[in-house]
Amino acid sequence: MTDLLVTHTADLGHPDLTAARALLDEVFEGDFSDEDWDHSLGGVHVLLREGRELIGHGSIVQRRLTHEGRALRTGYVEGVAVRADRRRRGHAGRIMAELERVARSAYELGALSASDEGAAFYAARGWQRWQGPTSVFAPEGVRRTEEDDDSVFVLPGTARLDRTGALICDWRNGDAW
Ligand SMILES: CC(C)(COP(=O)(O)OP(=O)(O)OC[C@H]1O[C@@H](n2cnc3c(N)ncnc32)[C@H](O)[C@@H]1OP(=O)(O)O)[C@@H](O)C(=O)NCCC(=O)NCCS
Repeated sequence: MTDLLVTHTADLGHPDLTAARALLDEVFEGDFSDEDWDHSLGGVHVLLREGRELIGHGSIVQRRLTHEGRALRTGYVEGVAVRADRRRRGHAGRIMAELERVARSAYELGALSASDEGAAFYAARGWQRWQGPTSVFAPEGVRRTEEDDDSVFVLPGTARLDRTGALICDWRNGDAW
């Protein structure tokens, strides 16, 4: 029996936050940094529990992505993970359905940077790979992020998008995308 909790970071208690961080550390096998965790906070979390155990997590936070001269209010998906022994049962699909609902109703578009494993999963859900050059508004100015060009996906909403055009994300510590 699983249950889904959808809540803002502000309303998640310390035990749930600790469990979410522990799940992400386990799933990403030590490759989930403090900055990655920081990027997952300050928005809406979806927690999937089986009994008292947390088996899945995803969150969506606001960022500004600039495209064709407009700063778009973007729901950026972070920290999507399902425990290894619970995969291919539709759990991530349930988590994403909630995050996509938030993206569609509160933002002009959804966006995320997919892992190799995640790319097929997101594509199957209708997320579209960005085809144009990606960059970041770094403190010293706009900087290309070539290494991220192939991993950025968008969920089109009300914003007019040309997926072959340039996309610039706002600045943050750690990975730009
Ligand atoms: C990616 C991940 C979240 C998917 O979780 P999941 O609960 O297994 O996903 P679901 O069962 O909801 O998958 C639904 C559909 O997505 C697709 N899909 C899911 N994982 C896939 C994979 N590894 N490769 C190809 N397609 C995949 C399939 O179409 C699947 O349906 P099917 O099982 O009937 O074929 C999980 O594998 C994971 O936590 N991976 C490690 C962390 C990670 O990479 N997260 C993404 C960060 S961007």
